[in-house]
Amino acid sequence: MNTTPSASTPPFVPESGMLTQDQLKTLVGQAALQYVVRGELVGVGTGSTVNKFIDALATIKDEIKGAVSSSVASTERLLALGIPVFDSNEVERLSVYIDGADEIDGHGNMVKGGGAALTREKIVAAQSDKFVCIADESKLVEVLGQFPLPVEVIPMATARVVRQFAAMGGHALVRQKNGQPLLTDNGQHILDVTGLQIRDPLAFEAQVSQWPGVVTVGVFAFQRAQVCLLGTAQGVKTLTF
Ligand code: 5RP
Repeated sequence: MNTTPSASTPPFVPESGMLTQDQLKTLVGQAALQYVVRGELVGVGTGSTVNKFIDALATIKDEIKGAVSSSVASTERLLALGIPVFDSNEVERLSVYIDGADEIDGHGNMVKGGGAALTREKIVAAQSDKFVCIADESKLVEVLGQFPLPVEVIPMATARVVRQFAAMGGHALVRQKNGQPLLTDNGQHILDVTGLQIRDPLAFEAQVSQWPGVVTVGVFAFQRAQVCLLGTAQGVKTLTF
């Protein structure tokens, strides 16, 4: 790994026993506040870890202009806490984007999309100068591919994309919700692909992104993280890439 991990001061560590995963998420959500540039807009991801960040962000809402959100769910939470949400088209650039991950490797490459928000997440990440990933230590992996890889697809292309993944050794299933294919915020479907070992994330992302009907592949290598705040039993570790 070419990371330079360094321990930062944890904002909160209970004295006794192991931290739960929920407590680790709270820790990194709070720690991410140090990267929020006061007086500016902040890019906000999606997921249970980001929900902790949004809750923490509400404590400094008077010090920021607002947020650009990556999902309907995050927008609703931000607005409910009194944080103004701006359309990404109104904003040329953001200093920082804060989001979780399903997996992150030692170079800051990630698998994302467990919450089906990968397309909007990639859009907001792309307009941000810095990606700060917040995650508990279970998300740190040597090689991406242990978590089923989310891929947003246009339904008409599903069978073809499933065959293309099969040709590279993957097994793709359409994500379901209440017995029906899950619909993303963009009205498309999600494939979850198992059986892949993604050893060259940049090449993989470039290749799959070109398949007709693929809206977004959940490998974030072009939009990789520059910082990861990792929740561990010892507190928050800061990894920089
Ligand atoms: C949503 C995502 C999330 O960042 C990812 O699934 C991690 O979520 P959580 O913080 O709930 O573990 O990519 O599309």
